Amino acid sequence: MATAAAQKAAETEPGGAGSTAARAAEQQAAFDEAVAADERIEPRDWMPDAYRTSLIRQIAQHAHSEIIGMQPEANWITRAPSLRRKAILMAKAQDEAGHGLYLYSAAETLGVSRDELLDKLHSGRQKYSSIFNYPTLTWADVGAIGWLVDGAAITNQVPLCRCSYGPYARAMIRVCKEESFHQRQGYESLLALSRGTQAQHEMAQDAVNRWWWPSLMMFGPPDEESSHSEQSMTWKIKRHSNDELRQRFVDICVPQAESLGLTLPDPDLKWNEARGHHDFGPIDWTEFWDVLKGNGPCNDQRITQRRRAHEEGAWVREAAAAYATKQAGAPRADTAATAHGEATA
Ligand SMILES: [Fe+2]
Ligand SMILES: [Fe+2]
Repeated sequence: MATAAAQKAAETEPGGAGSTAARAAEQQAAFDEAVAADERIEPRDWMPDAYRTSLIRQIAQHAHSEIIGMQPEANWITRAPSLRRKAILMAKAQDEAGHGLYLYSAAETLGVSRDELLDKLHSGRQKYSSIFNYPTLTWADVGAIGWLVDGAAITNQVPLCRCSYGPYARAMIRVCKEESFHQRQGYESLLALSRGTQAQHEMAQDAVNRWWWPSLMMFGPPDEESSHSEQSMTWKIKRHSNDELRQRFVDICVPQAESLGLTLPDPDLKWNEARGHHDFGPIDWTEFWDVLKGNGPCNDQRITQRRRAHEEGAWVREAAAAYATKQAGAPRADTAATAHGEATA
């Protein structure tokens, strides 16, 4: 943020009657002006507490989804049907770990620690995307996840590249590039199955039938029931409503499903000439809320495995911290050489 208003806010003299209230008003005005001008809010800038809290909630939930999302697909790494598929799937799962790291780092710029966020995930006080509470029953699920789940993630995340909070927006640029690869590999894998034997084609269709509706739920509840949407849009954290993004995703998927030679499991899905969009059938929001409450098929399994992975990784964190402390205390070779050079010059 580098607007004239921000500058003015920074230059305001402290002290004097009513100066605290005046200063707060100026800070708020500078923030509002920066958001209105599509400038980025950076970690050292003043921001309303509610904006900070809302971003921490959203970025943490996003980070948690990236690392929990590794589990359903990791389930198939050892059983990938070829070396090529295994290498692709391992690369994808590693990308998701990387996305988690960028996002936890982005959250840390808001003054919250990674330990605190992980603790909230492990104790159920922060959520991750409900889509990862569904099981991966066959190899085709890996393709369906790449095509539909990563595809829905891209639809959600491309607008986040213009999010008002700088570190989140910048993390999203790299994440979206990698998500494109994830979506493509899923599509290509499903295409190979769809054009394969009858059994392979049926397996691909079955996976799409199971993942389609949960993918539509990834955009969150309908606009009229979405508690955070309106404020997030005012702050330009979000740029489009849940229903807008869901519609965009449906419109993208319909022709892709045709190219794949697969159908989408919705008898009401049809082009609406007047709207210029596809109409689609009602979403089972009872299922959505039920999974969100913890009653999905894999909620317990996912969180138990996450806690176990965290405990088993304790020695790695300890070793990394000990190494960092050692490095911070020891003189670096290049620094020592420079000092010596200066002394003899
Ligand atoms: Fe990701
Ligand atoms: Fe992904």
